[in-house]
Amino acid sequence: MDIAIITGGSKGIGRALVNHYVSEKYKVFSLSRSHEKFDDFTQVSVDLTDISTAEHIFEDVLDQIKELDVTSLTLINNAGRLGDIKHLENLRPEDISKSFQLNVTSAFVLSSLFIEFGKAYSCSKKILNISSGAASSAYAGWSVYCASKAAIDMLTSTIAIEQKNKENPVHSFGIRPGVVDTEMQTQIRSTDAEDFENVDKFKELKKNDQLYKPEFVAQRIFDILNSDQMKSGETIDLRE
Ligand SMILES: NC(=O)c1ccc[n+]([C@@H]2O[C@H](COP(=O)([O-])OP(=O)(O)OC[C@H]3O[C@@H](n4cnc5c(N)ncnc54)[C@H](OP(=O)(O)O)[C@@H]3O)[C@@H](O)[C@H]2O)c1
Repeated sequence: MDIAIITGGSKGIGRALVNHYVSEKYKVFSLSRSHEKFDDFTQVSVDLTDISTAEHIFEDVLDQIKELDVTSLTLINNAGRLGDIKHLENLRPEDISKSFQLNVTSAFVLSSLFIEFGKAYSCSKKILNISSGAASSAYAGWSVYCASKAAIDMLTSTIAIEQKNKENPVHSFGIRPGVVDTEMQTQIRSTDAEDFENVDKFKELKKNDQLYKPEFVAQRIFDILNSDQMKSGETIDLRE
């Protein structure tokens, strides 16, 4: 059985990924705060900013997987938040912390537990980190988001070099999905120009129907991950 664990599977890109992996007959575990129940995949309700609870809940998921006849293992660290969009001096300390906990710490902790768990399996094992163009382009108002996505790119690279000489390595990839029509973009467009001077650029993209659909992004991600297009450690941008 092919297994996919996808964080932030309740909305946006994550939901499209869940649907796509289900359609490809994967056993899917979606981890987000949502309490909704589904017939075709397992929704696990967890606030990933609460790291110690997230650790225990993720271990429960891994215990469930242990009971299955596993043929491949995929972890997609997708859940993310922009947090407050404001210049640094106007950010609230607790909001800064929450964004790093979700965008960075939870991805590190889940990847760590996944790699340790995966040692018992010789099948294909992959971690995908959902990055952003903001990892390498600084936007005023997005200091925390940009820095958190840069950190995720380094997580992708370091996992690859750590795993390189292991007997049954985990392969690690990063994908920047481009501008995608989700609630995150709605939040961006609703920001004051005073807090985010690029807001008009994002309004224009929406007006001109230039956003990717989450379903398109999910299909592309699945196809890329299931071909030999990427080397472990690489992060690519879907727009390129
Ligand atoms: N949309 C874009 O244009 C774009 C561009 C580049 C990169 N990205 C990246 O793509 C990923 C998905 O973004 P999206 O646009 O699909 O965002 P979205 O529509 O806002 O969805 C975010 C997902 O993260 C989950 N989430 C948020 N806070 C959480 C928490 N505390 N604990 C657990 N889950 C939490 C949400 O589920 P619950 O609310 O149910 O918890 C939801 O499923 C993010 O990493 C984002 O940075 C997006």
